[in-house]
Amino acid sequence: EKGGFAHFMLKEIHEQPRAYRDTMLGRIDESGRRIILPDLHLTDEKIRSINNVHIVACGTAFHAGLVGGAVIERLVRIPVMCDVASEYRYRSPLITPDTLVIVVSQSGETADTLAALREAQANGAHVLAITNVVGSSIARDADDVISTLAGPEIAVASTKAYTSQLIAFYLFSLYLAQVRGTQSAEEIAHVIAAMHALPEQVESILANVDAIKAYAEHIAKHEDLFFIGRGLDYAVALEGSLKLKEISYIHSEAYAAGELKHGTLALIEEDVPVIALATQESVLEKTVSNIKEVKARGADVMALTHEEHVTDLLKSVDQAFAIPKTLPILTPALSVVPLQLLAYYASLARGNDVDKPRNLAKSVTVE
Ligand code: M6R
Repeated sequence: EKGGFAHFMLKEIHEQPRAYRDTMLGRIDESGRRIILPDLHLTDEKIRSINNVHIVACGTAFHAGLVGGAVIERLVRIPVMCDVASEYRYRSPLITPDTLVIVVSQSGETADTLAALREAQANGAHVLAITNVVGSSIARDADDVISTLAGPEIAVASTKAYTSQLIAFYLFSLYLAQVRGTQSAEEIAHVIAAMHALPEQVESILANVDAIKAYAEHIAKHEDLFFIGRGLDYAVALEGSLKLKEISYIHSEAYAAGELKHGTLALIEEDVPVIALATQESVLEKTVSNIKEVKARGADVMALTHEEHVTDLLKSVDQAFAIPKTLPILTPALSVVPLQLLAYYASLARGNDVDKPRNLAKSVTVE
């Protein structure tokens, strides 16, 4: 049942190229220039009237929402607010009929996310669900559904569901941009072409895991660790950190790199591992200066970046891992993969139950 893999989590990490392809299938027209979402009830007129977007979810699905929100803002220029469902549902969020609420849930059964959906509908908003389980409560109650085609996810730690949610967000953001005319046909075709290359790029990451495995065995000996990044790298840092603590039980925190000196820098001491995500070129220089700050306090820094920056970064960091190059907005679909592997191998090195971490359930149906 694990298809020759030692754990469901590893199997599911390896299923990602297939999940990306399946989630894109039939949603891009044959010319490769347009997004087609034929099942959507949202009319073009309605799409043009949306004046703000709320993205609501829990845990890893929330982290996918952070990436999705940033991509919508960038491609469609609509204000987006992301929140965790357990907060959103109780704080009377400002929802109007022109708010589009997107709920994200692998299982489609998370109690807080379902309650957030109901709160949004009660306030007249159109609710779009991105979910992996057809026929789930959230899929049934939402006004629209974009299914992720990740296939059943068994491991408690979510991997292929997260990346499939990213693909769904890319498709939907492009669709919004297409209808509202905020991106040219050329630009949309350009992003689609880059999306088509993602599955093979993930395969290339999965074909070379030795360095990540060795690094995981190194961090498995530590009790505290930090992830830093800016922009989309920060969103992925949050996910990498959650994955690691969830299954390795190593205390880890993710920080927006520029926030460090507002408090957290006090925790950086000799040999503390810091994982610096440095894939977003527009803020690379800024991230490098934050790397230097932690290095100066003795941190042991690993950078995740693109091949072209490795030589330069190695002047400031202890180790660097390269991921294949794609468009900045698509990078999370690649950069998260080594972090999933890192969590997996760190958990393994610590002798934990990888697929069933302590205290956690796969589906959180109570609040
Ligand atoms: O089924 P959902 O996507 O609604 O679940 C949300 C979270 O409980 C889930 O993503 C959780 O954070 C994962 N265990 C993380 O790996």
